[in-house]
Amino acid sequence: MKAVAVQVFGGPGGLAVVDRPVPRPAGGQVLIRTEAIGVGGVDVLIRNGALAAYGFEPGHVLGGEIAGTVTGTGDGVDPSWLGRRVWAFTGTGGGYAEQAVAPAATLVPLPESLSPVDAVTLGSSGMVAQFGLRHARFVPGESVLVRGAAGGIGIMAVQLAARGGAKTIAVTTSSPDRGERLRELGATDVLDRAGGAAGGFDVILDVVAGPDLPAFFGRLNPNGRLVAVGAVAGPPPADFGQALFTAFRKSWSFATFSADTVPTPDRTAATAGLFTAGLRSVVHEVLPLEQAAQAHRKLDAGEVFGRIVLTTPAGP
Ligand SMILES: NC(=O)c1ccc[n+]([C@@H]2O[C@H](COP(=O)([O-])OP(=O)(O)OC[C@H]3O[C@@H](n4cnc5c(N)ncnc54)[C@H](OP(=O)(O)O)[C@@H]3O)[C@@H](O)[C@H]2O)c1
Repeated sequence: MKAVAVQVFGGPGGLAVVDRPVPRPAGGQVLIRTEAIGVGGVDVLIRNGALAAYGFEPGHVLGGEIAGTVTGTGDGVDPSWLGRRVWAFTGTGGGYAEQAVAPAATLVPLPESLSPVDAVTLGSSGMVAQFGLRHARFVPGESVLVRGAAGGIGIMAVQLAARGGAKTIAVTTSSPDRGERLRELGATDVLDRAGGAAGGFDVILDVVAGPDLPAFFGRLNPNGRLVAVGAVAGPPPADFGQALFTAFRKSWSFATFSADTVPTPDRTAATAGLFTAGLRSVVHEVLPLEQAAQAHRKLDAGEVFGRIVLTTPAGP
């Protein structure tokens, strides 16, 4: 079968289409004939070597989020999954392939009305946004800032905050055009990446981190919470905690949030809920699996608003 592997960590040119044996589902796993494969920020971090400490080897097949049809089951898996169209989370790899294995515990049946492309656009990003907002103890009536709102997670966070009754939803983004598109999804204020001249926020959901993160503490209301769900601009400065201590009397909180800390059944249930919630799926572009490197070039160039999705011959 065809797959796309990182042969050389670094730029998108290090990705190559390779021939691989069809994987065999181990106990608790299923084999899926993929139709749609989500391309996410994590894939970029693995490809460019930023996550080298986690031990990824050359030849690693990227891809955590897939949708397709179950064609095989490992020991202990309910055989009634066979032939069903599903969304699945493979973990940190294996998804950029015509066939992939995934834990059966992550499977979510695709509703009739949801395409595989939309499923991999809504699924993982929406789940991270939902639990990220929960981690920030967001409640209706609060003001929210989504930093890095033009990506998969941010777009879902804007929609979920709007549905959750946020008083205002500010976003950071790099262009007025993107700002307009985010307003259509529920944003009420559009700020530049430096934070603009906005007022205070009860919650900041931050996909960006990087050198500017400490400045955003100053945007929090008393008792405000900033939750980092990503770090597309790299880690914050080593002394970023100073900003919290300097404003000790504001009782600000900082936390990271990783979906790894959410039990799999809760993640799966949340994803299933997102699939029937009527949320807008924002697909930037659909490309064939073989063009994964092209998809990564677009991500690296900052061209992508929403999700890039790869498809296979079995797909739409
Ligand atoms: N917490 C979890 O469990 C979890 C799960 C999956 C992924 N993640 C993390 O989430 C991140 C990827 O999320 P994503 O796919 O939604 O993000 P993304 O699409 O890669 O980036 C989000 C947006 O951030 C803005 N941005 C990019 N570079 C920036 C910079 N240097 N300064 C300011 N803004 C910048 C861009 O929008 P504009 O150009 O419009 O500003 C971009 O669209 C990764 O860090 C990944 O590790 C976390």
